[in-house]
Amino acid sequence: MLSLLVALAAAATVRAIPDVEVVPKENKCSNWPFYRQMSSVAGPFTLFAASTGTEIDGNRATYVTISDTTIAAGWVGITSQQGAAVPQVQCQVFGSAEMLAMNLNGQYQPLSISEYIYHEYDGLVFVKNVARGAPIEPHWHYYPNGTRQDGTFLGWNNFTTWAYLLDQQSNKYRIRLLTDTAQKLYDGEFTGFVRAGDPRLSD
Ligand SMILES: *[C@@H]1O[C@H](CO)[C@@H](O)[C@H](O)[C@H]1NC(C)=O
Ligand SMILES: *[C@@H]1O[C@H](CO)[C@@H](O)[C@H](O)[C@H]1NC(C)=O
Repeated sequence: MLSLLVALAAAATVRAIPDVEVVPKENKCSNWPFYRQMSSVAGPFTLFAASTGTEIDGNRATYVTISDTTIAAGWVGITSQQGAAVPQVQCQVFGSAEMLAMNLNGQYQPLSISEYIYHEYDGLVFVKNVARGAPIEPHWHYYPNGTRQDGTFLGWNNFTTWAYLLDQQSNKYRIRLLTDTAQKLYDGEFTGFVRAGDPRLSD
């Protein structure tokens, strides 16, 4: 009986992400949803929270402006309200790279993973980094039974687990990529994936 209670208590506090095998895809727009061969653009679509095991699954991404424009125009956060209006995202060509980009005031600006320590958190997604960080790459997930988990997941170099934290000031969830399986979470953080596309579709 005692061990059952202990197990239940542990289950209540750990919101584990699903057990999946991560498979990185080539960083090409054709590997993101809604790819249009004629224009070489994928999208527009939105980015949204997935597999967090919380009520924010399906909530979509927007940006929060950074006052220091020598770093970036903004950081990407997940809205705390379902159905809030958000900017569109697409994959397009920037020079020799194919990158996700977010619509800021009518112009698509590239997204990348920050290598800055901004408010003590690195691995955030920046919009229009002054010095671009790591690229955001598409990944697929497979369950142990071989079935593919619906969706195309954001990550880098085979890492697709993100730490979510509610930023009190903006009331948005910051997401930072965990690039080390032993990385610990800060107070209030929980883990999940970040998906591109449409929650109602499987691609
Ligand atoms: C990606 O990670 C999985 C474990 O989730 C591993 O089995 C696979 O070999 C890795 N692939 C690459 C290309 O590193
Ligand atoms: C494989 O596992 C996933 C996750 O547990 C489940 O949703 C899916 O239905 C399973 N597929 C088959 C064919 O059993």
